[in-house]
Amino acid sequence: MAFHLLVLLYLTFFNLSMSQLDSHWAAKRRHMKEKVRQMFYHAYENYLTHAFPHDELKPLTKSFTDSLSQLGNLKLEHLPQDYNGSALTLIESLSSLVIMGNNTEFERGVLWLSENLTFDVDARINLFECNIRVLGGLISAHILATDSANRLVQGSYKNQLLTLAEDLGRRFLPSFDTPTGLPYAWINLKHGVMENETTETSTSGCGSLILEMGALSRLTGDPRYEAAALRSLRKLWSMRSSLNLLGTTLDVITGEWIEYSSGIGAGVDSFYEYLFKAFVLFGKEDYWRMFHSAYLAVQKYFRHGPWYHEADMRTGKATYWQLTSLQAFWPGLQVLVGDIPAANSSHREFVHVWEKFGVQPERYLLDHQMLHPTEKYYPLRPELAESTFYLYQATKDPWYMEVGELIVNSLNLYTKVEGGFASIRDVTTMQMEDHQHSFFLAETCKYLYLLFDDSFLVDRNYIFTTEGHPLPVLSSWHERLPETYIPTNWTFFKVQTQRRKASAMSLQVCPATTLNPIHGDQQVESACHVPDARSDHRCFSHDDCGVDAISCRHRSCSIAGYCGLWLYI
Ligand SMILES: *[C@@H]1O[C@H](CO)[C@@H](O)[C@H](O)[C@H]1NC(C)=O
Ligand SMILES: *[C@@H]1O[C@H](CO)[C@@H](O)[C@H](O)[C@H]1NC(C)=O
Ligand SMILES: *[C@@H]1O[C@H](CO)[C@@H](O)[C@H](O)[C@H]1NC(C)=O
Ligand SMILES: *[C@@H]1O[C@H](CO)[C@@H](O)[C@H](O)[C@H]1NC(C)=O
Ligand SMILES: *[C@@H]1O[C@H](CO)[C@@H](O)[C@H](O)[C@H]1NC(C)=O
Ligand SMILES: *[C@@H]1O[C@H](CO)[C@@H](O)[C@H](O)[C@H]1NC(C)=O
Repeated sequence: MAFHLLVLLYLTFFNLSMSQLDSHWAAKRRHMKEKVRQMFYHAYENYLTHAFPHDELKPLTKSFTDSLSQLGNLKLEHLPQDYNGSALTLIESLSSLVIMGNNTEFERGVLWLSENLTFDVDARINLFECNIRVLGGLISAHILATDSANRLVQGSYKNQLLTLAEDLGRRFLPSFDTPTGLPYAWINLKHGVMENETTETSTSGCGSLILEMGALSRLTGDPRYEAAALRSLRKLWSMRSSLNLLGTTLDVITGEWIEYSSGIGAGVDSFYEYLFKAFVLFGKEDYWRMFHSAYLAVQKYFRHGPWYHEADMRTGKATYWQLTSLQAFWPGLQVLVGDIPAANSSHREFVHVWEKFGVQPERYLLDHQMLHPTEKYYPLRPELAESTFYLYQATKDPWYMEVGELIVNSLNLYTKVEGGFASIRDVTTMQMEDHQHSFFLAETCKYLYLLFDDSFLVDRNYIFTTEGHPLPVLSSWHERLPETYIPTNWTFFKVQTQRRKASAMSLQVCPATTLNPIHGDQQVESACHVPDARSDHRCFSHDDCGVDAISCRHRSCSIAGYCGLWLYI
């Protein structure tokens, strides 16, 4: 009797303190969400006032830049004579407006673009940048405009964004017309590939088109976009070394590497990301096989403790020991794959660098423990916020919310000006630069918002493109749907969902987490994006078992009915 009473008392006390803690964090999340909302609108409304319908805002001079033609164009060559912008920042803001619940403004933007946007412009653009920002932004907004939430006034939307996306996709196609199928990095939207165009491109430029172009094919029924992107990706993969490594730059005519050194940062990053996300979105085993080999090679040849350096694809020998700000996306990808401990430890190092400098410097020389002499800038990049969001989704560890708070406070302290948010030119002096990149609205603000309010993701399963635009994971888009994506027993899943209002993201794309009812602590149950069908690892078929977090291998159902690797080894 006494024993039972004790247990009861203990549990009552425990529940009380847990709920107090919960309400503390809930209040904090509400407060931080509001702060991020204000950041987004400060950036957005200043863009509308001073720059729209041009591409991006110059927040210091409260003017604009038609920067779509300049993205990736470091030497600013072949700039257009007569180009007045494509409302780039508006296109990039649409999915964020939906996530923040502003359907009226979303509708206003959609209708404006429907009537006013044209791609029949004499401008040479970077295929990769235009794909992730413009094509991805339009496709994602089209899907959000037509999903069951009915965000637009009835009858006002007749697939205009999809028509625009298709028009843009068609203009992309001539760039793939090369002997290798690898696309030119640059194309003139009106006139196609320029005479004497450079044949040099990057791994990302050839290997991160499949999500947007694949989605365009699924939506229009025209297979050419997906086929072009897939052919390019396959060719790129065929150029890997015997170590399963790729270089950073290559020639689209000869199919030969130019730069043999590569890592997980600039020029390569989204290649890895898209292999994996293409597997989630389209369900082709082929993507998984490529990703799996590539991921293991990264861990083997680039990783040094929590850091990642570069290596020569031919020898695997380390080349550059540098930490670049783009690498900070990697822990987010690792969360999706299920490698939580590795994600956590790398993420922490990036947080330390952020704390040391106040923001994320573009390039830090690990071997000299100093900043790169020229790349000291911070252009409002999202990668650390992105990884923080994924890690919080996977672990629900409130520490990640504190990281989010740190990022929000730094951005408000160092980059906010009357006319918007300005990039940092030099993190040692915090001198500003007159540029508010569109990805600040598409990604930085979005991931910070989702960190504090993920209601958009509840009961839905999205993946985010490398530009932060959500695409739904639909069974109808899967060639042969791996059964593990669709819970075999919906009753069972619904019960779980109701008990703890976890988002579809944390149930399906991110690792499923369960709350230990006695100790209240978090346990990462299935670390992989494909959760065990049942939390006790019992299985009825191989497909129930998903992917093991540590080895990244597909698991099988043993004769005794438990998920494990033993059948493979
Ligand atoms: C761009 O704007 C200028 C000035 O308003 C105008 O003269 C020109 O025709 C515009 N060009 C295009 C392609 O719309
Ligand atoms: C939606 O966005 C517009 C434009 O920024 C703003 O004026 C309005 O207050 C927003 N509405 C909500 C509900 O946030
Ligand atoms: C198209 O642009 C013009 C000029 O900015 C504007 O007056 C018009 O309202 C726009 N169309 C829509 C549907 O918003
Ligand atoms: C292309 O390059 C060749 C050789 O450098 C040059 O003679 C020709 O004028 C160039 N054509 C164009 C359109 O720039
Ligand atoms: C992340 O790392 C910290 C510090 O090593 C550790 O305390 C924490 O438990 C880790 N969290 C996860 C989810 O691995
Ligand atoms: C699904 O799971 C629930 C709860 O475990 C169970 O009661 C039910 O019988 C299962 N249904 C099927 C069709 O297996």
